[in-house]
Amino acid sequence: MVLFAGLHFKNPYVVASSPLTARVKWLRAAAEAGAAAVSTKLTFLKQPFYGQLRMYNNPREGSIVCHDRRLDLEEGVRLVEEGKRYTGDLIYFCNITHSSDDLEGWAHIARSLENAGADIIEANFICPNLSLTARSLGQEGPSGGAVPGQNPTLAEEITRALKESVNIPVVCKLTPNVTSLVDVALACEAGGADGICVAGAQLSLPPMDIYHPERVYPLLEGASMGSLGGPAARLMGFAMVAQLARRCRVPIIGGGGIETWEHAVQYMMWGATLFTVCTALMWYGWETIPELLQGIQRFMAAEGYENYEALIGCSLGQFRAAEALRPLAGTPVVDADLCIGCGTCLKPGHCDAITLVNDVAQIDAAACLGCGICAALCPVKAITIED
Ligand SMILES: Cc1cc2nc3c(=O)[nH]c(=O)nc-3n(C[C@H](O)[C@H](O)[C@H](O)COP(=O)(O)O)c2cc1C
Repeated sequence: MVLFAGLHFKNPYVVASSPLTARVKWLRAAAEAGAAAVSTKLTFLKQPFYGQLRMYNNPREGSIVCHDRRLDLEEGVRLVEEGKRYTGDLIYFCNITHSSDDLEGWAHIARSLENAGADIIEANFICPNLSLTARSLGQEGPSGGAVPGQNPTLAEEITRALKESVNIPVVCKLTPNVTSLVDVALACEAGGADGICVAGAQLSLPPMDIYHPERVYPLLEGASMGSLGGPAARLMGFAMVAQLARRCRVPIIGGGGIETWEHAVQYMMWGATLFTVCTALMWYGWETIPELLQGIQRFMAAEGYENYEALIGCSLGQFRAAEALRPLAGTPVVDADLCIGCGTCLKPGHCDAITLVNDVAQIDAAACLGCGICAALCPVKAITIED
């Protein structure tokens, strides 16, 4: 069990808002696979334009989504009402936005979904596909999504209006495309938010086909800056979660690039109470949910963590200002039996601490700067760094 915003989650796994949560069939799949919660597909009073799923996928890099079909309010209400009939104790975050700053519009969407059975309202202050590209091109675009997410005053007002309109918790899912993420999170907290969610969404563009520069996204004419997910989002996700966990009073949901149970544990150790998964589920399927949860449970049993809560924020004490960090002395050590003399460790442009003697790497400890690149790149793991 994990306690979040007064609700008991059977585990910290939340299926992120996406095509994975746009149909009752997939909500059932999420429940059957063992997820504790889902965030239903972004719901509007009426979506400003009808998108169709188009995304860039590269398993070594990440995903970028710039077009997807969202839900109009009647569709969102129907999804929650029907889904709730078949999904037992699955907890429903309902991901909403409104394409204008009119607070009553936001409140109406939230109330309708609460009446349909939502457990938590998730204010979408993250989606860049509505208007950020338009605005960056100097054009007018609808509001909603990342636009209020870039404006702490508006984010606070919307959060307050949502809190006043429903009796269930309100979580704000924030865009990373801001100068100070903490300022927006604290504004949402001041508006009464019960939790903050961060998960990828850096503005991104895919590479074009350099032989056909007009082709950027598959099956799409034109390119808009989309929302980054998958592996490329993970290290930035850790930084967002750790900052917020240090500065906010409310709990944090973290995501972006989770593919394995280790990644999920790392998010929790940086301070996430719950974690979200999207791209890896779209790429590798529902069976990854039990695999990931079993991995965490095995790890907790082996390492003596009594419950999920014991993982939360374990590494947060290590997060400090740069001037408070103390470099430790350390030297790379070569295992001569493993070294294959390939010379990979001789390549780093800034290093003159390594030579090959009789086809075995030799380290001059006095010349070593301590970057650790030789150990990271060694193809046979013959180099370790010892304190
Ligand atoms: C196809 C697609 C559609 C998405 N739709 C939504 C959405 O409707 N609302 C939302 O808040 N996030 C949406 N996201 C973002 C995901 O919920 C998630 O935050 C992001 O992809 C990062 O997590 P990941 O690295 O596990 O994919 C979408 C992502 C993808 C790939």
